Amino acid sequence: MSIAVALDGPAGAGKSSIAKRAAKALDFIYVDTGALYRTIGLAATRKGVEAKPSEEVENLLSKIKVDLTFNDSGEQVVLLNGEDVSGLIRTPEASMMASKISAVPSVREYLLDLQRNIAKSHDVIMDGRDIGTVVLPDAQVKIFLTASPEARAERRYKELCEKGMNVKYEDVLNDVIQRDYNDTHRETAPLKPSEGCVMVDTTELDFEQSVEKIVSVIKENI
Ligand code: DC
Repeated sequence: MSIAVALDGPAGAGKSSIAKRAAKALDFIYVDTGALYRTIGLAATRKGVEAKPSEEVENLLSKIKVDLTFNDSGEQVVLLNGEDVSGLIRTPEASMMASKISAVPSVREYLLDLQRNIAKSHDVIMDGRDIGTVVLPDAQVKIFLTASPEARAERRYKELCEKGMNVKYEDVLNDVIQRDYNDTHRETAPLKPSEGCVMVDTTELDFEQSVEKIVSVIKENI
């Protein structure tokens, strides 16, 4: 049977970079489920569809195909109707749209099997918001990774600056706070620690220490 690690937590807690490294160390694949919501957000933006429960969203979902594959270096690639959109979904606008569209129940339902099927066939570290609570409630290891909003905003701000984006720290912090609110207050599958999860706070940990901590929590629990 394959091993599943459910890794949940708020935006910017470092889940993706920490999980990528931990997955490499353990020879698991890393699955970033946020990319799937971002991809549907991009599809909605392109079609001018509003991110709220509606026939329009249902219609959109029936017309698109979202796929997740891995390139030769083992990195995840998301496809929207066969187009590689992995780069296009990484803007602050796409983040906000993803946060809104992810509150629509039919969108969450649409992505459920895709996520579960990947975990059936691979040892995975799956990162998201509802992996331990909804997608893989029986995962062998469940971790809730968090850090203070300021620490998370600081990290995301640096990341965006390094990519050459012209952003202000205050805007990034406000986005983090707004997305935390959206993610924890939506009715369907809100972000919250799952039953039996291990809480890991990385506010005071640097990257290497965070990876070490996650790898040791996983090893202790499998
Ligand atoms: O992890 P991320 O920032 O790429 O996620 C983008 C948005 O998608 C985020 O605002 C919350 C949502 N999301 C979700 O609702 N459930 C998941 N499993 C993953 C992401």
